[in-house]
Amino acid sequence: MTDAMNAEFDTVAEWTAEAARELGPDYYVPAGCRGSGSPAALDWLIDELELTAGESLLDSGGGVGGPAAYAAQAVGVTPVLVEPEAGACRAARRLFDFPVVRALGSALPIADAAVDAAWSLGVLCTTPDQLGLLTELRRTVRAPGRIALLVFAAREPVPADEQPEGNNFPTIGGLEALVQDAGLRVRAWRSTADLPAIPDEWTRRIDAVTDAMEQRHGSSQTWRLAQHQSEQIGDLLAAGKVTGEMLILAHA
Ligand SMILES: C[S@@+](CC[C@H](N)C(=O)[O-])C[C@H]1O[C@@H](n2cnc3c(N)ncnc32)[C@H](O)[C@@H]1O
Repeated sequence: MTDAMNAEFDTVAEWTAEAARELGPDYYVPAGCRGSGSPAALDWLIDELELTAGESLLDSGGGVGGPAAYAAQAVGVTPVLVEPEAGACRAARRLFDFPVVRALGSALPIADAAVDAAWSLGVLCTTPDQLGLLTELRRTVRAPGRIALLVFAAREPVPADEQPEGNNFPTIGGLEALVQDAGLRVRAWRSTADLPAIPDEWTRRIDAVTDAMEQRHGSSQTWRLAQHQSEQIGDLLAAGKVTGEMLILAHA
């Protein structure tokens, strides 16, 4: 990982947990979702995967654990998180006390067909081994292969100097080819641009977490690096050069 990605996914993940703990339990899930999912996106993914109480949900690249916690609260799934950054693993344990394994999504320390369902949200574009990550999801999720992705995809290949450091956005066509090469097929596909607006209260809680972190760490180089990364993604999304794509997959 690059320094900027370490800042964003390791150190800032721990700061997120610290800020959420100060603000209180109502802030844990929105804080833990700062990296990607809105309530409407998560509701759609949960619905399409037909997740039900007691089922295991693998979250590959689970970050601070907010999306897994949202699903656990919404439908009673039992999450298992895999995440390569130690700071994010500690943050997820601290906020949600889920089982978290420190590993790459392309080398999951999980037996074949061991979980009922899996998702990987906002992760694919941050890893060089995109096919490896998908192949591992296929291997570890039992048939019929209930797998979901949230992917930041490029309309056209994005020039390297416009990409946040270490990111590699697949094109839509590239994403379709990756899915096929991994032995998977698309069951449903929706762009995040079509989703209902994010509730004001959710945004207010995320802003409160961000403000608390900025107050404490705003002058640090790590904070500036992480902010720069997320601003670059924000700019690409605003310009329509990158879009958020949600895919529901199954074994081919
Ligand atoms: C944008 S964050 C999303 C976190 C979380 N999925 C969410 O939606 O809130 C991307 C996450 O992917 C993780 N990551 C990066 N490379 C990875 C890899 N090769 N395998 C699994 N996770 C990875 C990062 O450490 C980070 O936690």
